[in-house]
Order: sequence, then C-alpha cells, then structure tokens
Amino acid sequence: MLIIGIESSCDETAVAVLRDGRQVLSSKISSQIARHAPFGGVVPEIAAREHLNAIQPLFDAALSESGIKIGDLDAIAVTQGPGLVGALLVGVSFAKGLAVANNKPLIPVDHVHAHIHGALLGLSDSVAESILPCLALVVSGGHTNMYLVESPLKFKLIAHTADDACGECLDKVGKLLGLPYPGGPWIEKRAAHGDPDAIPMPRMVERKSRMEFSYSGLKTHMAQMIARQTQPIPEQMVNDMCAAFQREAFNQIIRKLDIARTQHPQIRGIVVAGGVAANKKFREMAQATFAPRKIECHFPDLAYCSDNAAMIAALGWHMLKERGAGAFLDLAWDVYARYPFETHAT
Ligand code: KG4
Ligand code: ZN
Repeated sequence: MLIIGIESSCDETAVAVLRDGRQVLSSKISSQIARHAPFGGVVPEIAAREHLNAIQPLFDAALSESGIKIGDLDAIAVTQGPGLVGALLVGVSFAKGLAVANNKPLIPVDHVHAHIHGALLGLSDSVAESILPCLALVVSGGHTNMYLVESPLKFKLIAHTADDACGECLDKVGKLLGLPYPGGPWIEKRAAHGDPDAIPMPRMVERKSRMEFSYSGLKTHMAQMIARQTQPIPEQMVNDMCAAFQREAFNQIIRKLDIARTQHPQIRGIVVAGGVAANKKFREMAQATFAPRKIECHFPDLAYCSDNAAMIAALGWHMLKERGAGAFLDLAWDVYARYPFETHAT
C-alpha cells in the first residue's frame, strides 16, 4: 500500500511516501528555523507563507525520489492538528486539492499521535507489535504528553503538562541564556561541558499521585537565577546551568514514567518521541533507569524525532488498514489548533 504524508503544523514543511506503513521511500523536510531564529520563536504568519512556498516543490521531490506517480497512491494522509491554524491550512488545502483532483481517500491525522508512530518507523511489524501495550511520551516544543498505547490506534492520554511543554521550556531558558533558537540542542551542547551538581535545582511536581508535568516553575527559577548573575555569565557557569537545568527537565519525565510503569504493569515497553527525544543525555538517563528494570525504552531514529511527514503517513496507514478507504472519502472536515485534553486523568 502506498501512502503520501503531508505535514505543515508548525515550522517544518514535510512530504513523505511510505510503502506499507513502514518502508520510507522518500522523506523530504524543509525547515524554517533560519526564518524564525531572529525572532527567538515561531512567527505564525511567516510560517504559513513559508509552507506555501515550500509545499509544491517538496511534493514533487518526494514523488520523484520514491519513483511513483500520483495515480499509484492508495491514499493521502495529512496533519489535521494540533498546530498553528494558518500553517495547518496550507497542508490541508493542498492535500484536499490533491484528493479531489486525483480521486484519492484523504486521511486526517493527529500530529501528536503520529509522533509515536514515527518512533516505530524502521522496525519490523513483529518488533513494533511486540512493544504494545506501551507507555508513549511525546516530548516536543508544543507537547509533553504521556499515553498508554494499547494498540496502534488506541491512545489513552494519562498525563500532560499543566503549563509549558518541556521543549518550550528548553527554548525559553536557552533564549534567557543568550543561546540561539531553538534552545534545546544548544542546551544539550553546553550541558556536555557542564557539571549538573554545581547548581542546585528545584524538583517540580514531586507529589507521587499527581500525573501531570509542569515546566513554568523551572523556567521561572532559571529566569530569576540568570537575572541575579553579573553579565556576561562566565562560560563555565552557563555550561553548569545548562547541565543542571536539563537534568531536572528530563528527570521530571523519568520520575513520572516510573510511576506510570507501576500503575500499568501490563506494558511491554516505553516509546519516547518528539524533538526532545533527540537529546542524547535524555536517552542515556531513560536507559539507565529502565534497563535495570528490564523495560525496553525505544527512541526514534534522529530523522524521525522532529516534525516529519513519514510519521503522518505511518499513522495514516494504520487508520486506512483499520477503517478502509471508504471511511476517508468525505472532505467536509476542518483543521484544529489545540489538543483536546478531556481524557486527562489527574
Ligand atoms: O517535535 P518538534 O520538532 O516540534 C514540535 O512539534 O514542537 O520539537 C521541537 C522541540 C524544540 O523545543 C527543540 O528545542 C527541541 O525539540 N529539541 C531538543 C533537541 N533537538 C530538538 N531538545 C533537547 N535536545 C535536543 N537535541
Ligand atoms: Zn511535532
């Protein structure tokens, strides 16, 4: 089965072609980071315009690299949300046009759930299925969500952030420290030369029963600490601050994962996805905690941590397999900006 995925929810335009939901024939990504960097964050209006410029050439390149024609496709999968409305509209309008013109089913895909399937790309069917049921974390610039995934399309949200997302907090603290945008990878680089024990750090949402994340307190703590320093802050101190801050940002997630694991003893593994999952220290900390407990912790290939369209096509493939093409012929649906949190349990 051949599916093309289209992603335009934030600051990456992406198009990918997948065979049978796992084999990536082409995955093209155009990042807008350089356009937003001078503003220290994503500017929605700029993002939408950049998607408009990028989408057709990316689509052409993905088709040509995969060696297929539009007529060969079984379906088109596109990010429906959550994301920036103007940005989402570019991908969805493009995909709807393609679907109408070529008489193809159009699968609306949830971006956050898709990150989890992005982490399973490259695994064989049997290995990917052997991880289920699992705990899955999506740790990105917009989300810090933990799910119990019982089957490929059954995601039960068991924790999310009460305020900032983990990646958002890394980016904001990076900005306060004068590091380039986005802060996450820069904090990782500086932390590699720092001592995490050199700076005391508060622990957030410690109460064991509270299944939620919180990052605004940690961000405020860092903002106050940075404001107290004489400027410019010595290089080594910035390194130490990055190491201590990053460790607590990740420790909070690992503590909650450890609680969730005991609450859901049926899980066979842990999947960590989203841009922050690219962080090597985070990977090491998770492995160090869960390997001795004999729980496999699975992280995506680096290519599928940040936003990409292969993950959109992968989830679309599961939806098509389960519901059939007839379920995706109706195009009377719209984008959605926010993640619906009604299933959240405290
Ligand atoms: O998944 P993603 O590309 O986009 C969203 O859906 O938000 O995640 C972007 C986030 C940013 O906050 C960025 O700073 C963070 O992922 N990030 C990292 C690393 N690479 C990207 N955070 C920590 N360490 C990294 N190596
Ligand atoms: Zn994302």
